[in-house]
Order: sequence, then structure tokens, then C-alpha cells
Amino acid sequence: MPVPVRFLFVCCQFGAEKTCKQELLTRYPGLRFAFSRPGFMTFKTTDPDIQPGKFQLVSTFARVWGWSIGKANNEDPHELAKAIGQQVSTSAGTQPFTMLHCWQRDLAVPGSKGFEPGVSPVAATAADILFNTLQPQLPGLQLNGNCEPDELTLCVVLVEPYEWWVGWHNALNVSQRWPGGAPLIQLPQQAVSRAWLKIHEAVLWGRVPIQKGDVVVEIGSSPGGSSQYLLDRGATVIAIDPAKMDAAVAEHPALVHVRRRARDVPKRDLNNVRWLTIDINMPPSYTIDVIRDYVQTRGLPVQGIIATLKLPDWKLAEEVDSYRQQFIEMGFAFVQTRQLAFNRQELCLVAQRKRRS
Ligand SMILES: C[S@@+](CC[C@H](N)C(=O)[O-])C[C@H]1O[C@@H](n2cnc3c(N)ncnc32)[C@H](O)[C@@H]1O
Repeated sequence: MPVPVRFLFVCCQFGAEKTCKQELLTRYPGLRFAFSRPGFMTFKTTDPDIQPGKFQLVSTFARVWGWSIGKANNEDPHELAKAIGQQVSTSAGTQPFTMLHCWQRDLAVPGSKGFEPGVSPVAATAADILFNTLQPQLPGLQLNGNCEPDELTLCVVLVEPYEWWVGWHNALNVSQRWPGGAPLIQLPQQAVSRAWLKIHEAVLWGRVPIQKGDVVVEIGSSPGGSSQYLLDRGATVIAIDPAKMDAAVAEHPALVHVRRRARDVPKRDLNNVRWLTIDINMPPSYTIDVIRDYVQTRGLPVQGIIATLKLPDWKLAEEVDSYRQQFIEMGFAFVQTRQLAFNRQELCLVAQRKRRS
């Protein structure tokens, strides 16, 4: 039996296409690049190992992916919705989709030009039209919520407002359960920096069980969005940064600000540290050396790490496997990497001693 030709669609950060494409073609020689727009790509495959049912894409830079069904072009969103409905009934057969995720490809780098990933107003309007059109043929359908694990999800990406691509996936991992692979969170008004978004997404995606009373060392803590999030979770924060913390955070009774560079902090003063987070504007090799220095300090029972690894040059993305390996060698059995939806030119590494279910 010949293996059917399949297409995968992949969404990534605006500007990360080349890096994401290179990562996927290196890891999966059975993929052939097919189409690209900023933040959106498709790949062709006839590889018997890359087929629905048994394949899960492993990637640091793909924010979300699925099996592509096709696309429709029209200036009228109602006509587009009808065309998508026809493609769903003919190409996807009788698949009982229970969730519709409809989003727009990224239009800018997260955090620039006021852009943050999520369901944009244009996508929300399109999603409503599409949802109303599809409901008669898919009566159990829900719209742009978090999926249940493994839920069969219909995905519609507005590559342009007049060009919608349609595909599907089973929500097998945490980020596939979010519309467009971005968690349904928004920066609170009182947050002092968008690092609040990054740490929140990292905790959700990495399933990091930071609990009330846990001690967290935060390296590169100023101005304090990340500390704010951790304090709100009930953690005690040792914030290490030579720069000033925002007063709203610095005055919190569960936070101690050590106004030094990470390497100048006497480790003997640190007790019962359970988690370490780090987000410093230094290259990954420096950041990892700092982490190693803390983790290898005797008596520091660090259970897990959330690290932002800056990529001042995209070529550093080729080193991701080596970064992961260094954490395994530090004794962290479970290491994950992902360019979070709210990351910029950087990625998030979560290392834990124990795997969470
Ligand atoms: C991206 S900002 C961190 C944002 C912060 N996590 C927040 O939640 O608002 C980077 C910070 O790293 C700090 N930094 C750079 N090198 C450092 C070092 N060696 N030790 C401690 N902090 C450092 C800088 O002073 C800067 O405040």
C-alpha cells in the first residue's frame, strides 16, 4: 500500500521560521518544506513514520502543529467559513471534532508593536462566523477553549484575513491544548513587566509544581514581573539582581532582594531553596555556568529550574541539544525546551529532577 501524501502545518514565532524549519528538517529527514509565511509553515511527507495516529512532533521552536487539510481564499469571511465547512466534511470524513481553535499567525515579535500572541480581534470575529457555520455539522463543537487531553481539535489559522488554512490535531501535549499554542492568559494591569507572562506560561507548560511556602531563587529579577507571579503563588522569593526592583515588589514581605550579580552572592546564605529561575541578558553558556554554580552548591536542594536562554544569534539554536545535555549531567532527569509563545529571541528550558505526570 503506498503511503498517502500528508501535509503538516506548523506555527512558530514571527521571525523564527528559518530556525524552526532547520530544526524540523534536521530532526525529521522524511519532511519536505512546502510553504512559508511569517509565523506559519507547511511540510509535505510520505514517510510511513510521520502519519496520523502514531506521530507526535518534537520541537523547541514549533509553537503548535497539526495535519493540514487545505486552505480557502475569499474576501468574504462567510464564504470562507462555508468553504472551510466543505473541506472539513469531505477531507476529514466524519471526524467528531469537539473543539475549534481559530487563531491568526503572529504579526510581530511578541512584546513588540503592542503585539502579544493569542486570539487577535480579527481571529475572534472570524472564529465566531466559522463556529456558527460549522455548528450544524458539528453540534458538540466548542470554541477557542483549553482542550481536554487528546481532544480532537479542528484548527483554522488565518494566514491572511482572506486566506484561512484548516487542519486538525489530537491535543496530545499541554501546548496543543491551547488555541494556537498560546495559553489563555493576559498580563494583569499591575504587572511590572511582561516577564509575568513568561513565567506563568513556563509553569503551565512545564508543569512546575511551585507551591505555597516554596523558596525560589530568582536570578535576574529586576524589575520584578516574574517575582510578582511567584509571590502571588505563595512562594518566598530570593531575588538576585544588581538592578533596582520595582517598589511594589521590593516591599513584599516574602521577598528578599540581594542587590548583587549572581556570582557575587555568598551561597551559604541560601537555605531550603526548592526552585531556581533565571532570566539574565547573557548568552546561554554564561547562564548555564551560573546555574551549575548554584546547583552544585552543597545543601541547596534545587528540585527544578526555569531558565530563559537568550539567543542573541539564532545560530545558537543549533546548540539546544547540548544545553539540554548539560542539565541532565547536573542531575535533572527531565529536561524540556520550548520557545514559549511569550518568549522573544530566546527559549525556555525547564529541568526537573522528577517527571510529573
Ligand atoms: C530580562 S531582565 C529580567 C526580567 C525579570 N525577570 C522580571 O521579572 O522583570 C534581565 C535582568 O538580568 C539582570 N542581570 C544581568 N546579569 C546578571 C547577573 N550576572 N546576575 C544577576 N542579574 C543579572 C539585569 O540587571 C536585568 O535586570
